[in-house]
Amino acid sequence: MLRRLHPNQPDSFAFTPANQAWAEGQITKYPEGRQASAIIPLLWRAQEQEGWLTRPAIEHIASMLDMAYIRALEVATFYFMFQLQPVGSVAHIQVCGTTSCMICGAEKLVEICKEKIAPRAHMLSSDGKFSWEEVECLGACANAPMAQIGKDYYEDLTAESFAKILDDMAAGKVPTPGPQNGRFASEPLGGVTSLHDYSGEPMNGSVALADAHGDTLKRIDGTEVPLITPWVAKASKPTKPKPVDSATAKKNEPKPAAKKPVDTTGVSKQADTDKTIAKPEAVAKGADLVETAPEMLKTARGTPDDLKKIKGVGPKLEGVLNDLGVWHYWQIAGWSAAEIEWVDARLKFKGRIARDGWVEQANNLAAAGEADKSQSS
Ligand code: FES
Repeated sequence: MLRRLHPNQPDSFAFTPANQAWAEGQITKYPEGRQASAIIPLLWRAQEQEGWLTRPAIEHIASMLDMAYIRALEVATFYFMFQLQPVGSVAHIQVCGTTSCMICGAEKLVEICKEKIAPRAHMLSSDGKFSWEEVECLGACANAPMAQIGKDYYEDLTAESFAKILDDMAAGKVPTPGPQNGRFASEPLGGVTSLHDYSGEPMNGSVALADAHGDTLKRIDGTEVPLITPWVAKASKPTKPKPVDSATAKKNEPKPAAKKPVDTTGVSKQADTDKTIAKPEAVAKGADLVETAPEMLKTARGTPDDLKKIKGVGPKLEGVLNDLGVWHYWQIAGWSAAEIEWVDARLKFKGRIARDGWVEQANNLAAAGEADKSQSS
C-alpha cells in the first residue's frame, strides 16, 4: 500500500497550549543532541489532537526537533499507525482481521463497516463522522473478534453488537469499551474454572480506566491528565545561591578534624586544592566558558522581528529560534559570549553565530528599527 501525503492539506498546524507544553516536556527526556528521538510521541500527539497527520503538523514537529522535513516524513509514512488522510470526525474504526479475529467473525465486522461507513477502507462516511480500516492483530486475540475505536478496545463483538456501537456513537453516545458479551475479561466463555475469588468488580482494570478517563473518542488537547515533567518546572526556576562572604566560606570549608587522620593516608591537614589538583586542559587553556541561557520569551512582545534579515538565518532556522524563545533583534543584540555559547550548543552551530556576527547584525537591525520608528512618529 502506498503511503503518501493526502492531496488536501490545511494551511497550518499548531499544538494546543497544553499539548505544546507536553511536547516540550517530552523533548527534555532525551539527551542533548538526541532530541529527534521524540519524533514518534510528538507525531502521535499531533494525530491525537487532529485525528490525522497533516503535512504542516509533520513539518512543525520536524522544526521543533531540528530535523529535516524529509526525516520526519519518513517516520510518518513508515508506521501504519499514523493516519495520512482525514479520518471520521467522531471515530476511526480499526477492525482486527488477523487469524483469531478472522475465524471468530471479523469479516462480518468489515461488512458492517462497508455498509454503515464507506465501501472502502480510509474513505469517510457520507456525513464525515466515521472512517474505517482493517488492521493486523491488536493483541486482544482471546476476546476475538475485536476493534479499536478511538483510544479503546471493543471486544467479543458480533455483527449486531458492533452495528449498535456505531449507531450509538453516531448518536453522540460512547458505549463502554471492553468485552461486549458479558465477559469480565478473557475468562472462558462458560465461566471461570479457576481464580474464583476475583474481586467481583463490574469492570476489569483496563475498562475501568477507560471509563474513568472518558476520552475514548475525544480529540486530545492535553488537558486530560496532568503534565508530569517536574524537572522542567525546576529548570525554569533556577534557585539563586545565597551570597556567602569569604570569611564564612572559609570557616564552612570541609576539613579533616585537627590532627586526626581521616583515612590510611594519614593526612590531617586539608591540602590547597587550587595548587594540587590539575585543572582540565580546556580550563588551563582559558577556554572554560560556562554556557549561560539568555533571556527567552514564550511569545513575541508585540510584532516579532524578521530574524531572516540576519545573514545565515533562513525560514527554518527562524522557526527554531522562535521555538527556543528568540523573537527580537534586541534579544540577540544583548547576548554575551556565554549566552552565544548556549545558543550555539542548541543549534549545533559550532561557532557560526560569532563567525556570522549575529550580535552585531542584530544590533544594527535593532538600531535601524528604532530610527524608523522615531522618523515615523
Ligand atoms: S487476532 Fe485479532 S486481536 Fe489478535
